[in-house]
Amino acid sequence: MAPRTILYTGKGGVGKTSVAAATARRCAAVGLRTLVLSTDPAHSLAESLEAEVGSGPTACGDRLWAQQVQAQEEMERHWSAVSEWMGELLVERGVNRITAEELTVPPGLDELFSLLQIKRHHEAGEWDAIVVDCAPTGETLRLLSFPDVARWWLEKVFPHERQLLAAARPLARTVLDVTLPSEAVFADVQRLMDNLIAMNDILRDRRSASIRLVMNPDKMVIGEAMRTFTYLNLYGYLTDAVVVNRVFPDAVAGTYFGAWRERQQEHLALVESAFAPVPILRASYFDSEVVGPEMLDRLGEELFGERAAGAVLHDALSQELRVDDGRAELRLALPFARRGDISLKKIGLELVVRVDGQKRTIMLPPALADWRATAARFHDGALQVTLDEQPRVPDTG
Ligand SMILES: Nc1ncnc2c1ncn2[C@@H]1O[C@H](COP(=O)(O)OP(=O)(O)OP(=O)(O)O)[C@@H](O)[C@H]1O
Ligand SMILES: [Mg+2]
Repeated sequence: MAPRTILYTGKGGVGKTSVAAATARRCAAVGLRTLVLSTDPAHSLAESLEAEVGSGPTACGDRLWAQQVQAQEEMERHWSAVSEWMGELLVERGVNRITAEELTVPPGLDELFSLLQIKRHHEAGEWDAIVVDCAPTGETLRLLSFPDVARWWLEKVFPHERQLLAAARPLARTVLDVTLPSEAVFADVQRLMDNLIAMNDILRDRRSASIRLVMNPDKMVIGEAMRTFTYLNLYGYLTDAVVVNRVFPDAVAGTYFGAWRERQQEHLALVESAFAPVPILRASYFDSEVVGPEMLDRLGEELFGERAAGAVLHDALSQELRVDDGRAELRLALPFARRGDISLKKIGLELVVRVDGQKRTIMLPPALADWRATAARFHDGALQVTLDEQPRVPDTG
């Protein structure tokens, strides 16, 4: 069976590393051979666990291993031919060597290569659970949605391009004075695409893989998590839980932080309306840093309580969006709503839906900013909203 794979992502500093480490400890405690893996170059996993952690799986407890992936090692393994070729090309064009080296690695690619470790671990078959602490941006996960394009490219364009370039190589060198990519470059690109396709299959298997969004009860942080949630749904990745970390406890009511707590309560209502029916796990703002086994287990206990940390906590996509020729169909799971009055309001990218006393706030993809919600109906425990592209106003200027 494929190992249970859980990816934690969220904005910088919200608590991803702490939550990932806490989750891994709980998984190991119930008997799962667990690996917690971080792609963050800051190496905070070792600090969080208070253990030595190497660039390969390092034992740090009963049935628990940790790994801090070295992006540089991964880059060298996967991308050296491409970087060399691009570097040469840039240097030939007068870019200085240091800048050229920086430019040969597109942003996000280093983390992507680090994430490919997940594939290796799946193939090795040594683990029951793999918990991944992703780097701050959710952008990398977006890159993973690219295999659909990669697949098409590999089958349709790539073979021809490769032949064409092989034929043009002698000519290019003598006449045009450019270095065309070598076979090794193509091999790197081909391998990357194959890996991406395999990773995509792993991460889209909803029986074993899911993503959990970590946030704090803070408006901007929630907004970013909502955007991530939208594209995860869009690309068919399962979000099985969201984590709201650092919630002020009731005890601060009436103190200096009382007003903060009230604001947080409002923001928690937004979390509810944005992510339900996905389970929302909460942890309070502790009186000290979450470092070391004891604090991690305290965090784990608050987050999961009776729940199994490694279980798939929710198994359905809660939004589906189909876009086709100027018309979009958004399907929202509303399992607890009965047929009732539906009200829709769209402000920019935010679509607010009220049905039968429930409120949902959906962040639409930017491409639908100018589209208008034109119809809504209930069907099979789900709300279906139709959006239509607005005809462009002719430019008379
Ligand atoms: N519930 C909490 N109460 C108090 N402190 C917390 C809590 N959760 C996390 N922390 C502390 O906040 C800091 C940041 O947490 P953590 O490193 O887990 O965040 P992160 O999302 O991984 O950050 P980065 O984006 O930098 O990787 C750490 O010092 C951690 O101990
Ligand atoms: Mg971190």
